[in-house]
Amino acid sequence: PIEQRVDSLLEKMTLDEKVGQMNLYNGFWDVTGPTPKEGSAKLKYEHLRKGWVGAMLSVRGAENVKEVQRIAVEETRLGIPLLIGFDVIHGYKTLSPIPLAESASWDLEAIEKSARVAATEASAAGINWTFAPMVDISRDPRWGRVMEGGGEDPYLGSKIARARVQGFQGDDLSDKHSIAACAKHFAAYGFSEAGKEYNSVDIGTSTLYNTVLPPFKAAADSGVKTFMNSFNELNGIPVTGSEFLQRDILKGAWNFEGFVVSDWASINELIFWGHAKDKRQAAIIASKAGSDLDMEGYVYIRELVQLVEDGIVAESVIDDAVRRILKVKFELGLFDNPYIYCDSETEKAVIGKAEHHEAVLDVAKKSIVLLKNEQNLLPLQKKGQKIALIGPLAADKNSPLGSWRIASDDNTAVSVLEGMKKYTGNTLIHEKGVDLVDGHAAFIEEVVLNTTNRDGMKEAVAAAKTADVVVMVLGEHGFQSGEARSRTELDLPGLQQELLEAVYAVNKNIVLVLNNGRPLAIEWAAEHIPAIVEGWQLGTQSGNAIAQVLYGDYNPSGKLPMTFPRNVGQIPIYYNHKSTGRPTNDNDNVFWSHYIDKENTPLWVFGHGLSYTTFEYKNFKVHGDKFSIGDNIKVTVDITNTGNYDGKEVVQLYIRDLFGSITRPVKELKGFELVHFKKGETKTIEFMLTNKELGFYNNQGKYMVEAGDFEVFVGGSSDTKLKDTFTLNY
Ligand code: IFM
Repeated sequence: PIEQRVDSLLEKMTLDEKVGQMNLYNGFWDVTGPTPKEGSAKLKYEHLRKGWVGAMLSVRGAENVKEVQRIAVEETRLGIPLLIGFDVIHGYKTLSPIPLAESASWDLEAIEKSARVAATEASAAGINWTFAPMVDISRDPRWGRVMEGGGEDPYLGSKIARARVQGFQGDDLSDKHSIAACAKHFAAYGFSEAGKEYNSVDIGTSTLYNTVLPPFKAAADSGVKTFMNSFNELNGIPVTGSEFLQRDILKGAWNFEGFVVSDWASINELIFWGHAKDKRQAAIIASKAGSDLDMEGYVYIRELVQLVEDGIVAESVIDDAVRRILKVKFELGLFDNPYIYCDSETEKAVIGKAEHHEAVLDVAKKSIVLLKNEQNLLPLQKKGQKIALIGPLAADKNSPLGSWRIASDDNTAVSVLEGMKKYTGNTLIHEKGVDLVDGHAAFIEEVVLNTTNRDGMKEAVAAAKTADVVVMVLGEHGFQSGEARSRTELDLPGLQQELLEAVYAVNKNIVLVLNNGRPLAIEWAAEHIPAIVEGWQLGTQSGNAIAQVLYGDYNPSGKLPMTFPRNVGQIPIYYNHKSTGRPTNDNDNVFWSHYIDKENTPLWVFGHGLSYTTFEYKNFKVHGDKFSIGDNIKVTVDITNTGNYDGKEVVQLYIRDLFGSITRPVKELKGFELVHFKKGETKTIEFMLTNKELGFYNNQGKYMVEAGDFEVFVGGSSDTKLKDTFTLNY
């Protein structure tokens, strides 16, 4: 058994070697954080040879990995293989949609498949550990990292977390296509104050237990092998140093047996937070708190041996961390074959396989959300029309790849222009109109929006004037969302709004295709533009997916995983908010919870998304009206496809617990099913509500189900009004 192999290896290890296992160095080319002064390639190689490195990140390519692995295995005293980590966030070379987009599919099978494709390509390139999935719930689209997550809802987020972990790790971690997954960022990073990166988080226990933690718990329950902590503090304690999160909850209450990696230098950052006075104290705090592996921080390797020798950190703390790390290495099969992931022939054969392109195209189509479609402007006719394709993102082959795609090649996405050109029955004129950024933007740079060039505007307007339909592709540059890309405005950046209005002045038949990594606040467009398609950043096959939806070869079924605000002032805005003591203006005066300059409702609600067909919901009922805690409560609804196309609907089930010892949200998603309907077809959809759906965590973190009155809602979005009720008794 693995535990015995771990123990017998641990017995042979010196203290230096043990601490070495707790050290993770970045590789030699790609950086994903500030470059530390301490590190140099020379030092890293020296430490590798001494057995002072347990893992490396961002070393990629079968041959490169083989070389560092060879040093670890053949040149160190005990020959312990390295973990090789990489940010495989939405694919390795062949890219899936950004995770937020993929979450809009609500298609757990497609999401799992997409993670499997990512694991297959990454593992062929030598990687055995991904820093994904990011399962941070967020209600703040100003935060650039919302693009990496599953959106705002803990129920959907938990299902997606499970699917992604399963996709990366497969059924057998020692399979050569499986890689260890990492649930990050533990915890509450998505609640960064003001949406600003690397910031404070101050939230109450109810939000922590009921909103933030569930997707992490789901990942742990699905057998995720590793967790990453984060850059934020939580209620005054930087989470890298949080015993409460890492020891009490994760390794205690949840019984997590894997290891916790710090984020990039986050142990070191305990000093800048003002929580540790120096590296020595940072090492004490983080190791005691349960941060097992120091990522590019140079703190453990510098301090821990001495701290143990001085009797300040117990050797049992080190042993526990090392055991956890070694266990994952054994489970990956690295001790049996350290070069299992390092075969250049496999690398060549596997990366970019046709079936991977098919899988990412499939999930890309499923991720598209039809936000608005007045007068059935969509789908486009396939023949005899003059179409003007306008906008800085229309021919862009780079932005649709999104952020976090380090191993992919620049400009390898299919653009919307390329996708639409495959439909030859219409006349297609392309005009960029304006630029989005000046010059080339890279992952490690700020994306500066200083474009003032209006030269192309005239041509764009002229093309629009004579067109039957205008398709405009607008949104964010691929590197405008992601880590360290917080925004204070959520409009269409640069001159795009001006372009949109100029085109609208001459032709109102506009289909707006959005390419963006976060919800945008585009109230003018929502009001004026007749058809709007949320096309996110859909990865390698982006333009093909969008074209197939525009021309009706694929009927969209995506639903928003995050609320779209009307303006930045409404943020945080999310569907599962509390009622407040003054929820309505019944008294017809000013004293209720609202803004005086904007309605309370968002632009588009969580769960919203249209189809080219229509669905009618009937006969919705809870089977019974009085139940006891512990009963299974059956809910059914008949749904008919009443439109002219076959199509899919995400049938969503929400509950409201009308009163509780801890106040409950006005709606909570507690079930969904993605169902295909032929034209005219009716199906009965059944849900079952159990203790798992009806309870909540109290402020001591204890799960409880309370008696009381409940409302149940079913529909195609979170603002459904279709309701039934029941009472739950003790
Ligand atoms: O995995 C990432 C993390 O999400 C942010 N900091 C750097 C890590 C490694 O690249």
